Amino acid sequence: MELIKGKEIQELTFNEIRQEVGAIREKGIEPCLAVIIVGNDPASRVYVNNKKKACETVGIKSLEYALPEETTTEELLALIEKLNNDSSVNGILCQLPVPKHINKLAVIESISPEKDVDCFHPVNVGKLSLGRAELVPCTPAGVIRMLDVAGVEIEGKRAVVIGRSDIVGKPMGIMLMERNATVTVCHSKTKDLPSITKQADILVCTVGKRNIVTADMVKEGAVVIDVGINRNGEGKLCGDVDFENVAPHCSKITPVPGGVGPMTITMLMKNTVTAAKNQNNIK
Ligand code: GUN
Repeated sequence: MELIKGKEIQELTFNEIRQEVGAIREKGIEPCLAVIIVGNDPASRVYVNNKKKACETVGIKSLEYALPEETTTEELLALIEKLNNDSSVNGILCQLPVPKHINKLAVIESISPEKDVDCFHPVNVGKLSLGRAELVPCTPAGVIRMLDVAGVEIEGKRAVVIGRSDIVGKPMGIMLMERNATVTVCHSKTKDLPSITKQADILVCTVGKRNIVTADMVKEGAVVIDVGINRNGEGKLCGDVDFENVAPHCSKITPVPGGVGPMTITMLMKNTVTAAKNQNNIK
């Protein structure tokens, strides 16, 4: 059994991105990501700080717009409109969740698809499903990157995704299909989950509930990717997979923490560089 370590793959990927950023800067363009945070959610604050730190690490300029809890949808849309029209801004991200009184869908759809580095806009979701994506959803793209760096062949393999969220599960299925895996997406209404997961050469779990994947559900030699972030009874970080009992049966597995976690921000940086290149007609 081999661990697929997110931190190492992040470092490797950051080095590549840093070089790309250098080449873009030589052309007189400074890649720039605008991050919007509304309200005082402590977890969102940590995520936004980490995104700014990652920008600094790879040489991307970051702008933060911290808006008060009582911000209206109209005020938020006005800021996004201003950033859409600012050619020095390449990527725009509004940290979710936004306060309940804000129209989240209107916010997502107001971000110019060319600057939508989260890949949440319906135009980008549609392009992804047509195999014409320019910007890619960060967490699923991070999983694909991990499989590639770890030397896992995807083509022709049976891949099973547990979870069908708009942000991870659904696009994960699409991206694995795009790479010629035979894909099954399971969810809360799936009957006899173990009979399906046992067929998986590549098993991705993105439910958000601890111990969803147990040893009896995993084929000997499978590659297991754990996207879940939960806390156990002692408050310690853990994934969706019963790691201790599942790991001995895997050829490769991602730990939590230190697995998929760092990859979301990594691919956000990659998307920001892609956006900057596309907007400036750089190949
Ligand atoms: N909240 C939790 N994850 C994400 C993410 O990937 N992007 C944004 N914008 N908000 C989030």
